[in-house]
Amino acid sequence: MQEIYLDNHATTRVDSRVIEAMLPWMNDEFANAGSHTHGSGRRAAAMVEQCTERILGLLGAPNHELVYTSGATESINLAIFGTFSHPKQTRRGLLVGLADHRAVLDCAKRLKTLECSGPKLTGQKLSDQSYSVGYIKVKDAASQQAGAIDLEAFQEALNDKVAMVSVILGNNEIGTLQNIEPLAQACHNVGALLHIDATQAIGKIDFRAEDIQADFISFSAHKFYGPKGIGGLLVPKDRLRLRPQIIGGGQQNNLRSGTLNTPGIAGMCRALEVATEELPIEAQRLRILRNRLWDRLFESIAGLGLNGPPIEARAIQPAQSPARSWENRLPGNLNVRFPKVEGQSLMLKVPQLALSSGSACSSSDPSPSHVLQAIGLNDEEARSSLRFGIGRFNTTQEIDEAADRIVAAYNELRLFVA
Ligand SMILES: Cc1ncc(COP(=O)(O)O)c(C=O)c1O
Repeated sequence: MQEIYLDNHATTRVDSRVIEAMLPWMNDEFANAGSHTHGSGRRAAAMVEQCTERILGLLGAPNHELVYTSGATESINLAIFGTFSHPKQTRRGLLVGLADHRAVLDCAKRLKTLECSGPKLTGQKLSDQSYSVGYIKVKDAASQQAGAIDLEAFQEALNDKVAMVSVILGNNEIGTLQNIEPLAQACHNVGALLHIDATQAIGKIDFRAEDIQADFISFSAHKFYGPKGIGGLLVPKDRLRLRPQIIGGGQQNNLRSGTLNTPGIAGMCRALEVATEELPIEAQRLRILRNRLWDRLFESIAGLGLNGPPIEARAIQPAQSPARSWENRLPGNLNVRFPKVEGQSLMLKVPQLALSSGSACSSSDPSPSHVLQAIGLNDEEARSSLRFGIGRFNTTQEIDEAADRIVAAYNELRLFVA
């Protein structure tokens, strides 16, 4: 029996249309986009330029420039350390959401251990030379927006010492979609920069950078059916104060050195085109599959809990309205809590299903999910949860089969617990 892949938050299969777009840049047109001395190098550079324009257009980002990176983790590192290590940066504060991805949380943790590189005043104490990190509370499990930033806590933490605020746009575990506008407004009122981790949201919701007024935006192509090893950071056109973190050949206007990944860039551009063209239909199809999975599990497992924002009413009609208005939750995300049975044990019982209990980066870490803890679940509830990431290539039959297998495995395990 073939594996049913339901881990599309961890990564997605590369769409064949994307592979087709990448191939020429690996064989016939393999030249280095930095080689301006010959035609093939100039053709590669022209392709990169076209892709950059296209990506900025598709992301609605006329006020940003695009820095290509190896993926969202690197983009996030560049946004955070690039901002705080700039010699003219005088502010010391970073605020991050408690339900943010580890790529952000680990940068925040590291930042706290560093000494400021910014201007130092004479007579300054050592403690004044270190960075401060604040963690913003998120709304709890009972809220319609479970996992979204608690605006009151955010307003309290924000002040004119904060250089940057980083928040996640689409949560990778519980799918929460964050409303960015009020945060952007508040940040700009105190002169703080806003970084958005849009890794799970780009290609899944109708996203336009100009609508949300964020300064930095991170993303990865492999989350929207593009290749691994390529991503981007949207940086304000005036660049503000950003210090490169990878130095060397001076590529990308010195913002990120290293030979450009031309097949990756061609692939990311094509992946974004396909995702954008198909978005309204695909998002609705994913919602229908996601809700079907929830319905099937809910009907058969007494006391099954939903983690994260509510999913809409059952039996949604096929797409009539474009996905312009964001709902509270990513369309392909489902995260459920099984009464009295651990998610890990359940997963072991269904080896035919590719699933996870949370983020791929934490899958070897036995501690309960920090996101589920952030919305107020206790350890037992967090450990009894599983995440389903439904994607472009899943079928209705797969969803039904996955539900049947989970229910059977749950019923078997349930016999062994009081
Ligand atoms: C929300 C979020 N941010 C950042 C990342 C890191 O992305 P990458 O592993 O592509 O660098 C991920 C990957 O799971 C993610 O889901």
